[in-house]
Amino acid sequence: MTRSKLIAGNWKMNGGLAANDALLGALRAGLRGSGDATCAVAVAVPAPYLAQAQSLVQGTAIQLAAQDVSQHDGGAYTGEVSAAMLREFGTRYVLVGHSERRQYHGESDALVAAKAQKALAAGITPIVCVGETLDQREAGQTMDVVRRQLAAVIHANGHCISEIVVAYEPVWAIGTGRTASPAQAQEVHAVLRAQMAAATQVAARVPLLYGGSMNAANAAELLAQDDIDGGLVGGASLKAQDFLQIIAAAR
Ligand code: G3P
Repeated sequence: MTRSKLIAGNWKMNGGLAANDALLGALRAGLRGSGDATCAVAVAVPAPYLAQAQSLVQGTAIQLAAQDVSQHDGGAYTGEVSAAMLREFGTRYVLVGHSERRQYHGESDALVAAKAQKALAAGITPIVCVGETLDQREAGQTMDVVRRQLAAVIHANGHCISEIVVAYEPVWAIGTGRTASPAQAQEVHAVLRAQMAAATQVAARVPLLYGGSMNAANAAELLAQDDIDGGLVGGASLKAQDFLQIIAAAR
């Protein structure tokens, strides 16, 4: 089954108007357009960045993604950004449940599921991040952890679960330069694919991305795995040529 590939760059709390201008300019120049995998960049949320990014990606093959979304529709939630606000800026994807939000903001599986629900309701595709810590892997708990994290989202969004994207990001591989081997990643992706298949008949169409020190050197081997349909790239997405090489590897 061939699935379209998605390469999403998570810029995290990096960038600025000048840096974003330069990076998006280089990406625009480097993308061939036809034949490229779908690519998206999750820019830091301050509205000027989003507005700038929106204008820079308009008419290009680059989609806009956000790094988080509120589980609320609006109101007295200082600093939060609603799905409707993101939609106004033409956001196509939003990360939910990134391990850094689960770790630093105590985001529970239920909260992640609620955020996915709000994104779907606003017509934004949630990229649901799941992944185990090194301790959990070494304790043999990897599959239990990722299945539990995904189950919460399936339970809350069963009726439109086919509209999500899932990103497997082993926490011990994020930002460490220590990438999961293609076999390790494929093993988890196969479990996630089977879990999705129990929830929706179109599981084969739901993109499963790998994230965690994906780079220009290892992308092709990871993307060659049966159930790896793309990448969620952090550090390497901040270097235009590296990110372009990862996109090229997904063709
Ligand atoms: O969301 C993607 C990010 O967590 C992966 O970061 O730097 O390991 O590619 P990095």
